[in-house]
Amino acid sequence: MVISGTTKIFVIFAHPSEQVRAPTLFNEKFYEKGIDNVMIPIDVSPLNLATCVQSFRGISNLCGGVVTIPHKVEIAKLCDKLGPGAKATGAVNAVRFDENGTLYGDNFDGVGFVAGLKDHKHSLWNKEILIVGAGGASRALASELVNEPIKCVKITNRSSDKAKEVVQIVKSVRKTDKIEWVPREQVNFSTFDIVINSTSLGLKLNDPLPIDVKMLGRDCVVCDIIMKPEETALLSAAKQAGLRVHYGKHMLDYQISFIADFIGAFKA
Ligand code: ATR
Repeated sequence: MVISGTTKIFVIFAHPSEQVRAPTLFNEKFYEKGIDNVMIPIDVSPLNLATCVQSFRGISNLCGGVVTIPHKVEIAKLCDKLGPGAKATGAVNAVRFDENGTLYGDNFDGVGFVAGLKDHKHSLWNKEILIVGAGGASRALASELVNEPIKCVKITNRSSDKAKEVVQIVKSVRKTDKIEWVPREQVNFSTFDIVINSTSLGLKLNDPLPIDVKMLGRDCVVCDIIMKPEETALLSAAKQAGLRVHYGKHMLDYQISFIADFIGAFKA
């Protein structure tokens, strides 16, 4: 589709923007579907983000877009309205310019993660789930998992105050009791059906393992949210121990369609 006067514009806010995958993914889909849309990378520094967003509010054919590093937290503060994923995480990875320029943001890491699990036939019915780590990703996953028919999700973390904060936020955003904090030394790893690493351990080659796979039950599914390397040391150890694994890349791959719906990208 050639860009014309009728083309609708979508963007990705990034800094830098060389590594972003969204424009290629979305533009290929626009082409395949014959939709008169375009997604362009916006490489804007944190210093200029607010001015940039403000000026975009007045552009009637600029519909919204994706938000990535380092803007996810700052752009949440510029939004007029936040969806549940953004409220739970304090971070936004998709924004939509609604009529009269109001900015609506949400975070789809949690829905992407859950959709990926389901599509890989990992049932959530009555499952006991452990999330190790208490950063933004932990919040996103926990706040979505409690919406599923799970038994419970437990959060453990090196710093217990951050784990307690995740529990408190998810309880208040989702009005649920299916989440609790467990001190690290009291975690009984063998009881969990699904264990998720949401710490940054595994990003670097020499990182210690976030979880000792020998302590897990034989039917446990081990998940990582780290995307690079695709096969983290944790997942490799889990596979060697004969456990099922679930890769970090699925969280991103499975949220693209949710983001597209939210920003209205694939509407002809
Ligand atoms: P994100 O927002 O991407 O989830 P983050 O906020 O930086 O990332 O959170 C990183 C998580 O990895 C935290 O839970 C952190 O534990 P602390 O809250 O105690 O800092 C965890 N983490 C990082 N390095 C760790 C280490 N060496 N041992 C244990 N946990 C670690």
